Amino acid sequence: MRTTVGIIGAGPAGLLLARRLHLAGVDCVVLENRDRAYIERRQRAGLLEQGTVDALREAGAGARLDAEGLEHHGVELRFDGVSHRVDFTALAGRGVTVYAQTEIVKDLVALQLADGPPLLFGAEALAVEGADGDRPTVRYRQGGRESVLECDWVAGCDGFHGVARAAIPAALRTTHERDYPFSWLGILADAAPSSEELVYARGEHGFALLSMRSPTVSRLYLQVPNGTDPGDWPDQRIWDELDTRLASGGDPSWRLRRGAVTGKSVTPMRSFVSEPMRYGRLLLAGDAAHIVPPTGAKGLNLAVSDVRLLARAFEELHRTGSTRLLDAYPATALRRVWQATRFSYDMTTMLHVPDGQSGFDRRIELARLHRIAASRDASAEFAALYTGLPLD
Ligand code: FAD
Ligand code: DHB
Repeated sequence: MRTTVGIIGAGPAGLLLARRLHLAGVDCVVLENRDRAYIERRQRAGLLEQGTVDALREAGAGARLDAEGLEHHGVELRFDGVSHRVDFTALAGRGVTVYAQTEIVKDLVALQLADGPPLLFGAEALAVEGADGDRPTVRYRQGGRESVLECDWVAGCDGFHGVARAAIPAALRTTHERDYPFSWLGILADAAPSSEELVYARGEHGFALLSMRSPTVSRLYLQVPNGTDPGDWPDQRIWDELDTRLASGGDPSWRLRRGAVTGKSVTPMRSFVSEPMRYGRLLLAGDAAHIVPPTGAKGLNLAVSDVRLLARAFEELHRTGSTRLLDAYPATALRRVWQATRFSYDMTTMLHVPDGQSGFDRRIELARLHRIAASRDASAEFAALYTGLPLD
C-alpha cells in the first residue's frame, strides 16, 4: 500500500491529523494496533483548552462537543485553610471545556469510518524504516500477516509505548525525564459533581482533585504512593479520604456527593520529553514525543496543539510545495511543549505532598499557592497557562 502521510496510532493525535489532512486533500492512512472498542473505552483525559475545542470544530468533530461539553469559567484552589477561585474569563478572556477523551475518539473514529481516510484496526506498526531518505516505510502486522506501507512522510502518533520514536537513531535523540514520588488513584463515579467547577486541593496528607465527565458522572483523583494496589482502596476509604482532603480550605460543612464507583485505576506521574520531534521524513506528535504529569490536564491538549502545527505544515506543503513549516515544526512544537512541561511540573509540585517533605519545602509550595491567591498578576499568569497559550 502507498500513501502520502502514513500515520501510526489512532489516539486523539493520529485521528485528528488524519481528519485535517483528509479535509485538505492530503492522502493518508492510519494504522492502529488495538480494536475500535478498546480505543473508544480507554479512560483518560477530559479537560479541553479553547484551542483544542476550536481544532475539533474545524475538523468537523464539534457537533456533540458543542451540545454536551460543559464550559467552565474558573477553578478553585483549596490549601492551608484558604479557598481561592481563579476566574479564567476575567483574567484570561477564555475558559475550558469538560468533554471526555473517550468521546473525542468516538467522534473522530465515526467521521473517519464514514468518509475516510483508511483506518486499519489491529494493525501493529513494527518499525519505521528509511526515514532519512525520500521514501520512508512503515512495516506492520495485521491478522498475522506482515505488510509495508510506503509513504512520503510518516507521522508517529503512537503514544509513549509506540515504535516511531525508536526510529530516530539513539545518538541523535536526547531524553529529558523526571519521575515523581507519587501516583494518582482515579475513580469514575455515578454521582452528580459536588461542585460546579473543578477543585484542586492540597490537603495535609496530599492532593485531591474533583473533576467530572457530565452532569451525572464525577471524576475524582487522590495522590497515593507509587506502587499502590487499587485493591487496597475500597470505595468507602476513597470517599472518606477525598472528603478530608477536599474539605481543606473549604466550607467545613461541605460533603462530597457519593455514588457507585464504575472505574478505578492508578497512574504514575512522569515528565518526559524526547528531542528532536523530527528525523528526516518522520515527525512525532503527542505522547510519542512527550508526557506530562496529569495535574493541569495538558497531555491531550499538547497532543492536539502538535497536530494543529503539523496539519498546518502539511497543508502548506500540499498547497505551495514549501517545507518551511515542516522544517520549523520541531522547534515551534518544542517551545510549547516546554511551557506545558513547566506548568504541569509547577502544578504537580505545588499541590502534592511527597512523603517526608521538609518543613522548608512545604512552606515554599504553600507560598507559591498563597501568591496566586493574593496577586491578580499571579492569578492571571496561572489562568493564561491553564486555559492554554495561543499557538505560535
Ligand atoms: P495516545 O492516546 O496514547 O494514542 C496512541 C495510539 O497509538 C493508541 O491508540 C495506541 O493503541 C496506538 N499505538 C501504539 N503503538 C502502536 C503501534 N506500534 N502500532 C500501531 N498503533 C500503535 N491527560 C490529561 O490531560 N488529563 C488526564 O486526566 C489524563 N489522564 C491520563 C491517564 C492515563 C492512564 C494515560 C495513559 C494518559 C492520561 N492523560 C491525561 C494523557 C492523555 O490521555 C494523552 O496525552 C493523550 O492520550 C495523548 O494522545 P496521543 O494521541 O498522543 O496518544
Ligand atoms: C482532569 C484531569 C486533570 O489532570 C486535570 O488537571 C483536570 C481534570 C480530568 O480527568 O477530568
